[in-house]
Amino acid sequence: MQGFKAPVTFHVRLLFVSLCLFTFSSSLKIGETCSSADKCDSGLICDTCVANGNTRPRCTRVKPINPTSKVKGLPFNRYSWLTTHNSFARTGEKSDTGTSILVAPTNQEDTVTSQLNNGVRGLMLDMYDFQNDVWLCHSFGGQCLNATSFQPAINVLREIEKFLGANPEEIVTIFIEDYVKSPQGLSKVFNASGLHKYWFPMSRMPKKGDDWPTVDDMVKKNQRLVVFSSKQSKEASDGIAYEWRYVVESQYGDEGKKPGSCPNRAESPPMNTKTIPLVLMNYFTTNPNRTGVCADNSASLISMMNTCHQAAGNRWPNFIAVDFYRRSDGGGAPEAVDVANGHLTCGCNNIAYCKGNTTGVCHNPPISPPPPAALDSPAQGAGTGADSGNANINGKPVELRWLFGAVLGITLLLRFN
Ligand SMILES: *[C@@H]1O[C@H](CO)[C@@H](O)[C@H](O)[C@H]1NC(C)=O
Ligand SMILES: *[C@@H]1O[C@H](CO)[C@@H](O)[C@H](O)[C@H]1NC(C)=O
Ligand SMILES: *[C@@H]1O[C@H](CO)[C@@H](O)[C@H](O)[C@H]1NC(C)=O
Ligand SMILES: *[C@@H]1O[C@H](CO)[C@@H](O)[C@H](O)[C@H]1NC(C)=O
Repeated sequence: MQGFKAPVTFHVRLLFVSLCLFTFSSSLKIGETCSSADKCDSGLICDTCVANGNTRPRCTRVKPINPTSKVKGLPFNRYSWLTTHNSFARTGEKSDTGTSILVAPTNQEDTVTSQLNNGVRGLMLDMYDFQNDVWLCHSFGGQCLNATSFQPAINVLREIEKFLGANPEEIVTIFIEDYVKSPQGLSKVFNASGLHKYWFPMSRMPKKGDDWPTVDDMVKKNQRLVVFSSKQSKEASDGIAYEWRYVVESQYGDEGKKPGSCPNRAESPPMNTKTIPLVLMNYFTTNPNRTGVCADNSASLISMMNTCHQAAGNRWPNFIAVDFYRRSDGGGAPEAVDVANGHLTCGCNNIAYCKGNTTGVCHNPPISPPPPAALDSPAQGAGTGADSGNANINGKPVELRWLFGAVLGITLLLRFN
């Protein structure tokens, strides 16, 4: 029996050592200096934001708090959802036509499946007739060309179908920029994708400013796909709701980014139309800018959200639509969504502060992200004055944790001998 004892203690020791190293080395928090995404907590990636003077890679949020798991059972219009503009237009994507060049601008960097897994719940999709099918593309003079076409819409719809199947409590909203003219072209592609079974019927959408059904009700009835089209005629022909009967939407592009004003886009009723209970806020440049976007998806996004809140008659946006949703200088679009959800669900400044759905009872832990960190060497420039000094401080806890973990591990190892 003696013979077995040694390996057991050895394993116990090994377990202790690995535990120490694991506990003290993994899971960097938001804003901490990182070398790769797997060193950061879940829901974070490791990124810089040079446009904001943040040249030191830091753990950056890509995932909002799932609002329905934190505050349950409210009407659908009492939640805010992270929404991707041109969700399908992914950098590095090849055209499914097989053409070698895709000249269309891109607005996101990961697949729709990855977006959904990161908590994106609003998807903006441009749909066109192309090659006897419905395709996702950017137009050139109103037409899809091989070089501006991404892929048949059914591919992405099938990704959504798979996600809804695997996540029976989640609700997804699709905003179609609709150029489809073929008769029932949209119905056909939605049917073929298997998404029809999740359809939230237009007849259940409130038309006089009432609340939407609760998320519980939508989940129970399995009506977890909300679809809006930009074409009014699709209500009669395909049973697809005309977006601006049910949603007020702010101006998109550069026009919608002017600080201090939040006008409606031309097709939408005024932002403060209270008979329309859903509010969509756009915040992205006319020409997507992959390097500049991280600065937009940061403090100025939250600032615009406050402006839009006022413009919409003191209503927080239910959908916050951005380009490159993963890019920011820290909290990003997920932080904006958490702020909106705090106000919408429990009356706190962030959904992280809610105590169930009891309105006005907030506990405010200090979770706000640290200020942008720049490289500490002034020679390498890019510092933003007072903030740049934080880089050093941000780097330290990581090394200290490693050191602490290692010392503890070695001490245990020696003691057991
Ligand atoms: C809180 O949620 C429960 C369901 O979980 C619901 O019955 C109740 O009405 C909600 N309270 C408020 C104030 O919305
Ligand atoms: C566009 O792509 C299709 C294949 O998807 C091909 O048959 C067609 O010839 C291409 N058209 C042009 C103008 O390259
Ligand atoms: C799509 O499916 C629904 C339900 O099965 C059906 O009523 C409708 O006619 C179908 N649409 C098309 C264009 O096939
Ligand atoms: C993109 O953003 C960067 C950083 O803010 C800026 O320097 C650059 O001029 C922008 N590019 C365009 C085309 O606007």
